[in-house]
Amino acid sequence: MTAGRPTHWTLPDAEATQAFAARFARHLAAHGPESVVIGLIGDLGAGKTTFVQGFVAGLAPDEDHYVTSPTFAIAQAYDTTPPVRHLDLYRLADYDELAAIGDRDLLHAPGFALVEWIDQIPEAAPPEWIALRLAVADGDVRRLEATGYGAALSRLVEDFANAII
Ligand SMILES: Nc1ncnc2c1ncn2[C@@H]1O[C@H](COP(=O)(O)OP(=O)(O)O)[C@@H](O)[C@H]1O
Ligand SMILES: [Mg+2]
Repeated sequence: MTAGRPTHWTLPDAEATQAFAARFARHLAAHGPESVVIGLIGDLGAGKTTFVQGFVAGLAPDEDHYVTSPTFAIAQAYDTTPPVRHLDLYRLADYDELAAIGDRDLLHAPGFALVEWIDQIPEAAPPEWIALRLAVADGDVRRLEATGYGAALSRLVEDFANAII
């Protein structure tokens, strides 16, 4: 599937990452398809879980969803609108293990599937998805690269970038 033009952001601290994620979530909820897989890629401590905290808060600003890393649970669901599933594939050996816990529903049910360590099991990424690559730049500063795969999601990412620059 063709990749869109990658867009880049500099996020100076954790609050900036969460605020960015909240805006991104609301943009997707307003303009995206019914179901979206968002892969979060980056080293331990890059800010993947922090991003998910902001994303969930952006969809449910009046509720107090406590988002932690689902590393041990593998998946955690949030009853936001649209709903969010938060997955962490770090401890899974292969796609079969994901299939055993319900890959179709976790990834493709309506709403957003936010998948940490999707690069561990690349088959988890469908033909159309959004890749968010996070890297530590310096101290608290993170660099985020967003790429949409497939025409609709690459346009969505580019529209979001154009809307907030
Ligand atoms: N700009 C930033 N964006 C995200 N997290 C940041 C940032 N600056 C500092 N942090 C801190 O880095 C850590 C990131 O941890 P976490 O989100 O669990 O990473 P990951 O899920 O990628 O392992 C948190 O303690 C967070 O407060
Ligand atoms: Mg994490």
